[in-house]
Amino acid sequence: MNYRHAYHAGNFADVVKHVVLTRIVDYLKRKDKGFRVIDTHAGRGLYDLSSLEAQKTREWQAGIGRVLGHAFRPEAAALLSPYLEAVRAANPGGGVTHYPGSPWIVRHLLRRQDRLTAIEMHPEDAAALSRRFAGDIQTRVIELDGWLALGAHLPPKEKRGLVLVDPPFEAAGEFDRLVEGLTKAHRRWPGGIYALWYPIKDRRAVNAFRAALAETRIPKIVDIRFEIRPASSDQRLDGSGMVVVNAPFSLKAELDVLLPALSRVLSEPAGGSNRVVEITGEQTVEE
Ligand SMILES: C[S@@+](CC[C@H](N)C(=O)[O-])C[C@H]1O[C@@H](n2cnc3c(N)ncnc32)[C@H](O)[C@@H]1O
Repeated sequence: MNYRHAYHAGNFADVVKHVVLTRIVDYLKRKDKGFRVIDTHAGRGLYDLSSLEAQKTREWQAGIGRVLGHAFRPEAAALLSPYLEAVRAANPGGGVTHYPGSPWIVRHLLRRQDRLTAIEMHPEDAAALSRRFAGDIQTRVIELDGWLALGAHLPPKEKRGLVLVDPPFEAAGEFDRLVEGLTKAHRRWPGGIYALWYPIKDRRAVNAFRAALAETRIPKIVDIRFEIRPASSDQRLDGSGMVVVNAPFSLKAELDVLLPALSRVLSEPAGGSNRVVEITGEQTVEE
């Protein structure tokens, strides 16, 4: 496990992922009944942007750095507000010296009746996460292989909620593991919302992944694609995607506002693109 998210925290892909995450959590909060978020690859929760890692790449400057300084139109600003409010809460001194990761953002948004399970396999990051949430009865931190959680931890007793799967993609086979993991998880908990992050870098692998998702016959899969430049000839992170299963009905209309607004801020001058594509519709699973 060599991947360290500190190099990438707050980059364009984190911004898009976390905006989608906050829209799903915001939707879950429309009902009083409590829900659970299970974050299978949680990271360390809060990233110091003055760290050597963040200073080395400075990726956050072309991500959250741009977004925070931008005046969005009112409709987009309203939809972004839970996300931006979480980022501001992680920076009580003003400016942006720290970037909050997915468990931090989710925890910030929870009500008293909601719960978070944050799973992380890297011992150092899992320890940092445990310290951060020490004594918090709404949050459970587990040092574990996140892929295992897609079996043992589902369905949660709340029977409402979201599973975020955000693997590092440092090893070959992560796309296959996502499809296998989703299939296993969906069998155990068909009613859960699932959000799977993936890099748009190796185009062949991405196309094979999308085709494999369609073949699972799991209903209601949408694919959110966000690219900050036209396809590069070498393999670079040109964009990122989020596959959402059982997306809230409100999400598509929200993304129609948010993705173009974020694209204007985050894309390179050569031009980015964004789309929401339905991979499978409402049909029931054929056994
Ligand atoms: C992309 S980062 C997660 C970022 C985080 N979800 C966020 O949005 O702030 C991926 C994380 O997965 C961890 N990791 C790698 N393999 C894992 C595994 N099998 N199970 C759980 N965590 C793993 C890495 O240590 C890293 O912290």
